[in-house]
Amino acid sequence: MSSAESEGIEYRLSEGVKPPGKVIALLNQKGGAGKTTLATHLAGEFAMQGQRVTLLDADPQGSALDWAQRRAQSGQDRLYGVFGLARDSLHQEAPLIALQADFVVIDGPPRVAALARSALLAADLVLIPVQPSAYDVWASQEMVQLIAEARVFRPQLRAAFVINRRVVGTVIGRESRAALADQPFPALQAEVSQRIVFADSVAAGRLAFEVAPSCAAAREIAALAQAVREMLL
Ligand SMILES: Nc1ncnc2c1ncn2[C@@H]1O[C@H](COP(=O)(O)OP(=O)(O)O)[C@@H](O)[C@H]1O
Ligand SMILES: [Mg+2]
Repeated sequence: MSSAESEGIEYRLSEGVKPPGKVIALLNQKGGAGKTTLATHLAGEFAMQGQRVTLLDADPQGSALDWAQRRAQSGQDRLYGVFGLARDSLHQEAPLIALQADFVVIDGPPRVAALARSALLAADLVLIPVQPSAYDVWASQEMVQLIAEARVFRPQLRAAFVINRRVVGTVIGRESRAALADQPFPALQAEVSQRIVFADSVAAGRLAFEVAPSCAAAREIAALAQAVREMLL
């Protein structure tokens, strides 16, 4: 047996004992909260760190799939696999996909529906992106309720708010802090600011840190990924 073959066997054996990857769902019934932006960037950050990542697009609109298609059309490397799975059977499929991955990131659907419930059954961690306004925190209450219900059956399910689109140079206001403090889940310290590069990179099928590797957006995503890893320990 050649050394390459024996290495292959060793690889398969170590694969066999690997625990399944972690499933992270980006959920908020509000459209435009940043689910797709944070899902594609978190997945990209983990992939750049050498992790095996799969993104499941659970939004029937298929924005992450569109982004991946644009990426392929413009001849860029794949970075991670993106698959459409906007089905109520998500919770049955995601654990199988997690067997082959270190991280499975679910880009959630708008509206609270069977699909969002299915994502909650599959997830180890739910991230709720919210803009730093009390209105946006209040608007996520249906999702908060759904997570609380899911936790009755799955007490290990973790959840956190992620502030997205904070205006650069401002601290988040007292009203939104107060609204967040009333919630049953923490808000991550790692906040993501409103930055043109997040929106601009989409059309080219790219990620903010590919367009500008050492930009502030890249640092924020790296910090968010680190916070997520810590929550999953
Ligand atoms: N931090 C951000 N800075 C700038 N634009 C953002 C940011 N987050 C999201 N966007 C933009 O806002 C729009 C909605 O975001 P998206 O991630 O698609 O939300 P959702 O998936 O929750 O509907 C998109 O055009 C996206 O590019
Ligand atoms: Mg989306």
